Amino acid sequence: MNKQEVAQVLEWFSEMGVSDILNTDPVRPSNKQISSLAELKEAMAKVDISIKHCATNMVFGTGNEKADILLLGEAPGAEEDKQGLPFVGQSGQLLDKVLAAIGLDRTKVYITNILPWRPPGNRTPNTEEVALFRPYVLKHISLINPKVVVCLGGTSTKALLQTTDGIMKLHGRWTMMEGISAKIMPTFHPAYLLRSPSQKREFWRDFLLVREEISRNN
Ligand code: URA
Repeated sequence: MNKQEVAQVLEWFSEMGVSDILNTDPVRPSNKQISSLAELKEAMAKVDISIKHCATNMVFGTGNEKADILLLGEAPGAEEDKQGLPFVGQSGQLLDKVLAAIGLDRTKVYITNILPWRPPGNRTPNTEEVALFRPYVLKHISLINPKVVVCLGGTSTKALLQTTDGIMKLHGRWTMMEGISAKIMPTFHPAYLLRSPSQKREFWRDFLLVREEISRNN
């Protein structure tokens, strides 16, 4: 729209008696205004989304804010919702084991999710929810500025990379994307491994690649 067209629209609104123009996206402040994790958390807490009303706690992120590795999960489960922290349930215990096996623990990584609230009944986040939170996830990653992002599971991989390819195809291969300087490693979700323990070996291999990458850069 050029200036003249904008003026015409405003004149038309004025003739109609419109005195206020509603912000059509009032819950989504400009990402540019956010320059710290505290501001990001505050902005995310204001997002008006139905799942928030069924959740007990918002689960933002935890760990080392200067970490080289950021782990990106899907959404909080029941235990995470109760405690307000990511990966503190059964999946988290498996994750801790694999981190320990490559010489890491939660003080050396940063962990967050695509969604900060638990979807009712632990359902998979839907397309609208993912689209709403993706800009916040990108901001979260840029504030931590890790060398590596590990996407845990198909949902976080698809959400971040905006791909329809499945995790079976993508896991274990480094990927890059515009706007993020970190290398991205898609791997399995620990909850999937609890159901399909035979894939644990692949999960472990993917994390070995992460360790290799980090040691090369340090
Ligand atoms: N599953 C996730 O994807 N994230 C959590 O925080 C817990 C379980």
